[in-house]
Amino acid sequence: MLAATPALGRRRFVLAGAATVTGLLLPSQLRAAQQLVRTPGQTAGPFYPVQFPTDMDNDLVVVRGTEARAAGAVTHVVGRVLGTDGAPVANATVEIWQCDAHGRYLHPADRGGRARDSAFQGYGRTTSGTDGTYRFRTIRPVAYPGRTPHIHFAVKAPQGRELVTQMYVAGEPLNARDGVYAGIRDPRQREAVTVALAPGNGIENGALVGTFDIVL
Ligand SMILES: [Fe+2]
Repeated sequence: MLAATPALGRRRFVLAGAATVTGLLLPSQLRAAQQLVRTPGQTAGPFYPVQFPTDMDNDLVVVRGTEARAAGAVTHVVGRVLGTDGAPVANATVEIWQCDAHGRYLHPADRGGRARDSAFQGYGRTTSGTDGTYRFRTIRPVAYPGRTPHIHFAVKAPQGRELVTQMYVAGEPLNARDGVYAGIRDPRQREAVTVALAPGNGIENGALVGTFDIVL
């Protein structure tokens, strides 16, 4: 039947036999009993930094101490780190890295021949808050040969849970031809890493904003 267990200061409902007790549950209790879709793991690829930039905060558009601003469409990526039970994961380290607006990574092995945008930080790091939230200010990811636009993510939770994944942009025509993206077989998991970007005028005029919740 229905067992209520106190967990992290809130009551969590565990279903022992959904068919027999569904009629007894309020909608909010049903939601609590449902598991969130786990964010699928993805390859880190070859361009995780071998040397971190001197500035590695969560604003990749500006490198501290310089006036220049990265080329590309400024994009705020916000979200929460959550457990599959929906509980926020606080104090998780969240890292991102991506190529600049020219398609060039901050990495010596990127020999694509494209000039690097020195105003783009290339890598950033932050920590999730007590409610699991994190945020980055970066650029809208761009395509480079062989790949649809994506942002690499690495998440380390204090309890030892770790995830390396990639975030994609909803509506990108190249998504359909991207082998790494297609490697996510479960359509719900693919949806979980596909983020709609919309005008983020409430946050920053002219910028985009997307929400990417990461479920460990
Ligand atoms: Fe990549």
